[in-house]
Amino acid sequence: MAKTVRLEPIAIETSVETNGNLLSVLLNKDLDVLKECGGRGMCATCHVYVQSGMDALTPINRREQRTLEVITSCNTNSRLACQARVLGNGVVVELPPGMYVNSLQDIEALIGRRAEQNLLHPVTGQVLVEAGKLITRSTLNQIKDTTSFRLNEYFSQTRDV
Ligand code: FES
Repeated sequence: MAKTVRLEPIAIETSVETNGNLLSVLLNKDLDVLKECGGRGMCATCHVYVQSGMDALTPINRREQRTLEVITSCNTNSRLACQARVLGNGVVVELPPGMYVNSLQDIEALIGRRAEQNLLHPVTGQVLVEAGKLITRSTLNQIKDTTSFRLNEYFSQTRDV
């Protein structure tokens, strides 16, 4: 039996098969989720806030917990959409604002422009460039010096042991 899920702030009501994950709900609605780790519960790109209906979702597993601990914008109602399965009705999910980038090249391509929304790191969710800021080469160099984009290293860590 299908269960209803509401997406905020875009105010879309949709449904998913019982035990389907929240990620499939987002993807069904053509939301641009990077799925940087391939749905393995190891990145920030499917991070959502559950506004209500947390008890209608499967509980947080260990890997999800570990990843959530790394995400800078994590809250008590945070979940990873690829890990949370829908068991009941009434789930309301809020998508965090911002856009995930998965390489320095993504930022480099925006040099000379203002960020239309916060640019976020795909594993930590850290704000790399704030919305409205002009992206320059020195912005890029600063990010290069302070942030790692070696995503394979993040994903090869066996965080669930
Ligand atoms: S897609 Fe990476 S944690 Fe969900």
